[in-house]
Formats: sequence, structure tokens, C-alpha cells
Amino acid sequence: MTKIFEMDCDNIDASDIKYCGTILRNGGTVAFPTETVYGLGANALDSEAIKGIFTAKGRPSDNPLIVHVTKAEDILPLVAEIPEVAHRAMATFWPGPLTILFKKSALIPQEVTAGLQTVGIRIPSHPIARAVIEAAGVPIAAPSANISGKPSPTIAAHVVADLMGRVDAIIAGGDCEVGLESTVLDLTGETPMILRPGGITKEMLERALATKVLEDPALDKRSMEGVTPKSPGMKYTHYSPRAEVLVVIGERSSVAMKINQMQQEYIKEGKKVGIICRDETCSLYRDAVVKSMGMANNLSMMAANLFKILREFDNTDVDVIFAEGVEEAEVGRAIMNRLIKASGYQVMHV
Ligand code: TXA
Ligand code: MG
Repeated sequence: MTKIFEMDCDNIDASDIKYCGTILRNGGTVAFPTETVYGLGANALDSEAIKGIFTAKGRPSDNPLIVHVTKAEDILPLVAEIPEVAHRAMATFWPGPLTILFKKSALIPQEVTAGLQTVGIRIPSHPIARAVIEAAGVPIAAPSANISGKPSPTIAAHVVADLMGRVDAIIAGGDCEVGLESTVLDLTGETPMILRPGGITKEMLERALATKVLEDPALDKRSMEGVTPKSPGMKYTHYSPRAEVLVVIGERSSVAMKINQMQQEYIKEGKKVGIICRDETCSLYRDAVVKSMGMANNLSMMAANLFKILREFDNTDVDVIFAEGVEEAEVGRAIMNRLIKASGYQVMHV
């Protein structure tokens, strides 16, 4: 039986939080909102509890989990060392949507890191996430609270749809502000390297750390072949709605023309078409289920809406979804990373 607790940031129910904290401390699983996406938490120091996460999500066991704490000093027992550059990253971006990879200490079970010698740690800023982690009194491992392969949940209804009956409790606590998972930054090598783009961008990191920041070269590969991303999770098909997804990249009017042309071909075959676009381009499309991510000049809003839109298409009968590509600057990088993965690398340049 899954218990559901409804609350919002301004009305955090202390006794419900305490109850959820006890579930976590005793080896159970609780889903809760964070500023990025909903997470499915379990006690990071308890191997059996961790197995509960993998079972509930149907997650491949070689995909490591991020550990969540509420204060910088909480990471001391969890890591082998804190490099100088990490202090700057922590001071600038924590609490917030940045996961930092450290060399792990012996306290972290192998199940959490999927056998890797590094551990990803994040301090979330969301008041409900912080309250429940504090109530648990232990570090909390938490992947996104979706069934593996589906888009990460950004509203409580997504979590209920995926995990009802599979976890001990769900805290339904409103919508997630960022809407994309945290940036994963590896600080265990010579040069900081982004393994997963997110709300904290390369530009922001380079400015704050006053050093060059690399991106895992695997992020630029546009097919599944010959790629071994350093973040195991980045190799799986992900974020996929039921319908096939195709991303079209290019100048705005050429993209619309190409999508309209392909749409006609699909309609002739008796297929239903969905389109993901921006407010500015919505009116260019007809005879399709059209969903806008938001205004073209508001990348944060587009990021916040993307997963919700991908899931909404599962409530329609479209067979194929054409998505307009966005410019890969700032958060656009993360939006495109998720869109291209959702498409299974079906990308067309016009
Ligand atoms: O925003 C987020 O990060 C959310 C919220 C709940 O905090 N969590 C999340 O977790 O997105 P998950 O498990 O869905 O994604 C974690 C990603 C995966 O791609 C995983 O492979 C990578 O981080 N990762 C975790 N630990 C790692 C490690 N030690 N080395 C390399 N990649 C790691
Ligand atoms: Mg995930």
C-alpha cells in the first residue's frame, strides 16, 4: 500500500514529514518533490533499502544513484576527499540543481554507485525535499521517481501514475520548478567535466569555477553506436513517450516547412501526428496535436514544460511526434539532450 501525503512548500505538515522520515530511516521508499524533478528516496547507507529503489523503478542495476543531503558538512563521511574546485562549486550552487561526483568513502554501499568508486552528491533546495531528508536523519539516495525509461516526473500525478503500489509513500508537493534533472559534474579528474547537462549550465560553471569545464564527448555523439558515456544512465533510451519522436533542427521557418511536409505524408498513411513547438510557431501547424514548450526566449520555461508535454502525448492517440529543435546555448543544451534521447537519436537537420 502506498500512502499519499499532500502538502505544499508553504504548508509543510510536520507530522507527515516525520512519518516519511521514519519510513526512510527504516529501509522504506518515499517519493518527494525536489526543485529539479520528483525523486524516489531510500536510505543511502542501507543496501537492502537501495534494492527497493531498483525494484520499484525497474532500473538496470548498473546505473548509479545520486545521494542527497541537506548540509555541506554532511558529505564529509561520504567522500574520500574534497578537491579545492569542489569547495567553490558547492559554495556557489548548493543548495540547487547540481550533482557533484566525488571519490566515495567506504560508507557508501556498492549498490548505490553500481560498483563505481565515485559517488554523486546533491544538496537540494526544495523545502519539502530538505525537510524529509532531515527527518530521515540519514543520507538519501534518490533517482528520478519514474518507471525506468519514462520521462522524469515533474508533477505529483506523474509519480502516482508510475509508482502507486510500488513504493511506501508519495509526497504530492506541487510542480518542480526546473523540470529537468540536475547537472552532473565530475570533479574527480584533472578538468571538471559535465556528464549530464542541466539547469546549471557550462557557462555558469566556468564563470564560478574560473576554469575551463569540459563536456563528456559522448554527449555530442548523435547515435547510440560506439558511445560509452561516463554516466551510465546516459546510455539508456530515456524519456520516451509511446509515440515515435523525431527532432527537426534548423532555421525556424525551414523546420516548420519540413514538419508540415512530413506531417502530410504521415496523414496520408492514416497516422496521427503530434508536434512540440514554441508559442511563436504554434500557428504554423494544423491537423496535428500541437503542444508548446513556451516562449522561444524563455528557455527555463521550455525546460520546465518538456517532460510534462512528453507525458501528455501518452494521453493522446498520436503515432508520431515531431519536435522543433532549440538552440543549444545555456539550458537549451539540456533541453536538446533530453529531446534527442527521447527520440532515440532520430534527428533531422534541415
Ligand atoms: O535532479 C536530479 O538529479 C534528480 C533528483 C531526484 O535529485 N535525480 C536524478 O537521478 O535524476 P537519476 O538516477 O534519475 O539520474 C542520475 C544520473 C544517471 O545518469 C546516473 O548514471 C548518473 O546520474 N550518476 C550517478 N552517480 C554517478 C557516478 N558515480 N558516476 C557517473 N554517473 C553517475
Ligand atoms: Mg532518471
